[in-house]
Amino acid sequence: MNRRTAISQTPSERVSVSLGQRSYEILIEPDALRARELREACAGRGCLLVTDQTVGALYAERILAGLDLPSSHCLSLPPGEQHKHLGSFETIVTRMAELGLRRDGCLIALGGGVVGDLAGFAAAAYMRGVDFVQCPTTLLAMVDSSVGGKTGLNLPSGKNLVGAFWQPQLVLADIEVLSTLSDREYRAGLAEVIKYAAIGDAGFFDWLEQQVEQINARDTQTIAQMVAISCRHKAAIVARDEREAGERALLNFGHTFGHALEAGTDYRTLLHGEAVAIGMLQAARLSSAMGMAPQQDAERLSQLLRAVKLPVDPPRLPLQRLHHHLALDKKAVAGGLKFILWRGIGQAEIVRGVDQRALDAVLQSQQ
Ligand SMILES: NC(=O)c1ccc[n+]([C@@H]2O[C@H](COP(=O)([O-])OP(=O)(O)OC[C@H]3O[C@@H](n4cnc5c(N)ncnc54)[C@H](O)[C@@H]3O)[C@@H](O)[C@H]2O)c1
Repeated sequence: MNRRTAISQTPSERVSVSLGQRSYEILIEPDALRARELREACAGRGCLLVTDQTVGALYAERILAGLDLPSSHCLSLPPGEQHKHLGSFETIVTRMAELGLRRDGCLIALGGGVVGDLAGFAAAAYMRGVDFVQCPTTLLAMVDSSVGGKTGLNLPSGKNLVGAFWQPQLVLADIEVLSTLSDREYRAGLAEVIKYAAIGDAGFFDWLEQQVEQINARDTQTIAQMVAISCRHKAAIVARDEREAGERALLNFGHTFGHALEAGTDYRTLLHGEAVAIGMLQAARLSSAMGMAPQQDAERLSQLLRAVKLPVDPPRLPLQRLHHHLALDKKAVAGGLKFILWRGIGQAEIVRGVDQRALDAVLQSQQ
């Protein structure tokens, strides 16, 4: 599925996710939080804005003022992955009920992937499903979690164990809000951007290599283009395989390794995108070791990740521990682990059963 992307020049982009009656638009532009489309989506019905305290303090007022909503229609949760739990879900649906939201009500999720996943799941469950609008405020949420309809929360026994597929009605990616995002979170989002190039678009990969300076300088136009191309890739895959029966699994390139690294370090050391960066390189190196892909493609990936200042060295962890977490990955299938490897830049594929010695060598090697 190696496609070559035409790179446009406009800072305002639109992407359609085609899912029949559940199709929706992604608007990528400065000031998207004040878009007419949001007012239209919310007109004449009860709405609740869900955010976290950090993002809410910065941007909630823009949405509340634009929709003429009182502050009681804004719920600010404490920020962070540790709050993506059942208690926060209960807080959201309780507020919806207190506000008298009916089946025609609408939730607006303003924040990163944590808020989007939680509010999306609340929208899926409240009165068996109400509309919701995603307003992603991290780069990761813009290019990944806000698109495609996966929602959920964590249980003490594992990440994302409870969830539902529930597509938003609209996605508004206001790229101006990224100006307040920390450098580390911004770079973590870049890992998911590079992933789309790595799995299916060699032309996009070339372009990212050429744009390193603008990417590192957070040039607005470059970001808008990166977000739009990434969303187009995700939208196309989701339209063909909404429930991950096949092709959507390619989006997990680097994630099986990445999850093992995140879990192996108790989710304390690496951001998700950082773990994905290291994991993508491990997947590329395993592909080379198994004779599937040229070694120089793994080297190009390594150079691009380093150029945008993402980590490439895995934390040192016992091999046994890594194997334990690899086996627990929920994308593992009966009869062996399912890995997403590649034949080279832009050509990912699903591989069942990998060379054990090559796997161990990759897991133990520092770059
Ligand atoms: N549903 C999916 O398809 C999908 C895909 C990938 C990841 N996820 C989930 O996404 C979550 C991670 O999302 P994330 O990386 O966006 O983290 P996050 O939601 O925790 O946000 C990261 C931090 O940045 C802050 N922040 C967000 N936007 C900001 C802004 N514009 N300015 C200043 N600060 C801002 C937040 O308050 C938070 O502290 C994980 O729970 C993961 O499981 C879901």
